[in-house]
Amino acid sequence: MNVEVSTPLLGPRPIWPIEIVRGRNDRVWCADGRMFYDFYGGHAVALTGHAHRRVRRAVARQMRQLIFYSTSAELAVRNRAVESLVQRLPPGLGQVFFSNSGAEANENALKIALKLTGRNRLLAFQGSFHGRTLLALSVTDDPALRDAFRGLGPMVDFLPFADPRAIEEAAFDSAAAVILEPIQSMGGIRMADQVWYRRLIERAHKNGCLVIFDEIQTGLGRTGRWFFAGDDGIVPDILTLAKGLGSGIPVAATALRADLAASLKPHDLGSTFGGGPTAMAAVLATLEVLDSEHCIARAESLGARLAAGIRAHPEYESLGRGLLIGLRTQGPSRLLGEQLFRQGFLVGASRDPCVLRLLPPLTLRERSVDRFLDALDRVRPS
Ligand SMILES: Cc1ncc(COP(=O)(O)O)c(C=O)c1O
Repeated sequence: MNVEVSTPLLGPRPIWPIEIVRGRNDRVWCADGRMFYDFYGGHAVALTGHAHRRVRRAVARQMRQLIFYSTSAELAVRNRAVESLVQRLPPGLGQVFFSNSGAEANENALKIALKLTGRNRLLAFQGSFHGRTLLALSVTDDPALRDAFRGLGPMVDFLPFADPRAIEEAAFDSAAAVILEPIQSMGGIRMADQVWYRRLIERAHKNGCLVIFDEIQTGLGRTGRWFFAGDDGIVPDILTLAKGLGSGIPVAATALRADLAASLKPHDLGSTFGGGPTAMAAVLATLEVLDSEHCIARAESLGARLAAGIRAHPEYESLGRGLLIGLRTQGPSRLLGEQLFRQGFLVGASRDPCVLRLLPPLTLRERSVDRFLDALDRVRPS
């Protein structure tokens, strides 16, 4: 469904032939008046829905007061945001560096690991996506994006994801870090069993290799818990966040163990815009909304309902956890995506040609889930 547009804008072309002008919670409206249920969230960013009143108000109030000041000065809103985030992070991840995008959060995580271990190799997984800056790209398993820069980044071994044998054989002893999306999103909503994550961390730590969880999609409640990490001793050394952290105001975070942070010098990390007051007001409001609207529990229950509705169709399979959902089709999923679009639903694709992704806001209404499942009954991939 790629759309031809004549514009001086560089970068990806719109995939849908629509111009979005307004959004409210789980719906968006177009310039021609059409309305769509947003099960994509603008790349999974609309975590608290579109234009949440509390986020809007907090950002507007902050902008009236002070739009920006850098880390050269203390800001109460920054201190409150970091405390609020640390309270919710898995135990031990007590120090946070704020930046502006997911790639930057991962770039900093990898830099920290390379610097603190003194090693120059990294481990990553087949099917991964970690961003488009040079280090983040070097651990992204997409040769089309990466190959032009081969040789410029560190040495990276890509291991098969969720494969128990691979982690027994991997060279953790010479790697600075192993980085993973606990549930691979763009790779087709792939996850492993709990034993695999625990063993991966065990093997890495035994060999002095740091573990980085890229929770840019799995974090902040999407999988029905605050973070994928946390339970059953599955806690990384570094965890990265972005996407919905500011409900659409660009902001990212690299959280790490306090003892690792103690080995860094203050100027090892830095960013002009990172930790700015407008972004921090958005973070605070986002975390408050996730709590006050019981979004974590909603992600679990609505995710289960969507998954059951998908599974009711023998030709589909449901993948993932909470509201990070993969819908596996038997043929190319693009056809189903196009039919859902015609029925008024925005859904995401993945690099697996047979998997669509559903990444709706955690404030998704039950009514919208019903509408989606009704639409799924109506459409038939031809
Ligand atoms: C898991 C994951 N990591 C990193 C990134 C990169 O984030 P950004 O596009 O904000 O740089 C993305 C973006 O899709 C992502 O899904």
